This record gives sequence, C-alpha cells and structure tokens, in this order.
Amino acid sequence: MGKSTIIFIASAICLFSLLGITQANEESDNYQFILEGIVYCDPCRSIFKTTLSEPVSDARVGMQCRHPETEQVTITVTASTNSTGYYHMLIEGDHENEICETYLIKSPKEDCSEIPTEGHTKESSRVTLTSNNGIAGKNRESNALFFLTKKAAPECQQEFKEMEYLPELKDINQA
Ligand SMILES: *[C@@H]1O[C@H](CO)[C@@H](O)[C@H](O)[C@H]1NC(C)=O
Repeated sequence: MGKSTIIFIASAICLFSLLGITQANEESDNYQFILEGIVYCDPCRSIFKTTLSEPVSDARVGMQCRHPETEQVTITVTASTNSTGYYHMLIEGDHENEICETYLIKSPKEDCSEIPTEGHTKESSRVTLTSNNGIAGKNRESNALFFLTKKAAPECQQEFKEMEYLPELKDINQA
C-alpha cells in the first residue's frame, strides 16, 4: 500500500466517524419534549391522589395530539410505566394549537383496571407540548392517571374524613 492510500483510508475513517457522531447527535435531538407522568391504582374511585393510591408498574399509557377542529391525529406515542409507576415518553415536534392528552391503555392488575371516563378526567389529562407559551426546557410533566378498582375500599371513608380537615386555599393565602 502506498503512503497516499493509507492517508486516504485514514481520513476516510476519520470522516465516517465524524459523520457517525453528528448523526447520533441529531438522533437524540430529534425529539422536542420529554413527557413524564405517574399512574396510580385508586382504590377509592375518587380520581385524585389519596394516601391509599398506589403506583402501578407495567401499565400501558398513551399520548395523542390532534387538531382541534379537524380532529386529525398528529402524533401518538405509547409507553409503559417502570417499577415506580412512572412513564417516560420522547415527543417529536412542537404541538402548539393542538389538543394533546395522555390516556390509559391497559392495567396489569386485574383488580384495578377500570379506566375512568368522567368529564374532568379528560381535562386533567391535557398536556402542553409547545415551547411557544413561556415554558422553557424539554421536560413536561403530565397529571397523574388513575386506574380504578371495581368497588371503593372501606378504608376510603376514613381517608375522606381526614381530608376534610385540610386547610382551604384561602386560609393558606391569608397565612
Ligand atoms: C422511573 O421513571 C422515572 C421517570 O422517568 C424516574 O425518575 C425513576 O428513576 C424511574 N425509576 C426506576 C426504578 O427506574
């Protein structure tokens, strides 16, 4: 092999590894947002967190954005929760002027698998996936999602009673 051939091969290897690096960078920058959230089993069927709520691992969840008028879906991402009940999604693109919502797909717990459909659950599952509204950074957190048991557990009665003694918002503001 002549000297120039070796130099050529060496620079080719150099160039390819440089290309490899930029490609890897582009891949990890391809997404715009990291969406995280937690999934609970709610044994009180109250659809909010109580001390009786337990994180659910291996739950399937999804996130979908759609156009508000045409209802056309622009992106769908699914994920599973880890051992602490959290899911983690990489979202591509900016979704300003779209309606984006997280939703439950499947619970691994047969005794806690009902998916609530009441009015306010839809609203609380909204997520904002745009940089054009003053929220900086890539990280977005969505509200908790709750699978329900078929019947409320008896302990929930006591739980709700204790919650009545929580200070109201106006008391906190005046303090
Ligand atoms: C589960 O995911 C959350 C959010 O991504 C993370 O903070 C937590 O460390 C993860 N837990 C485990 C055990 O991997």
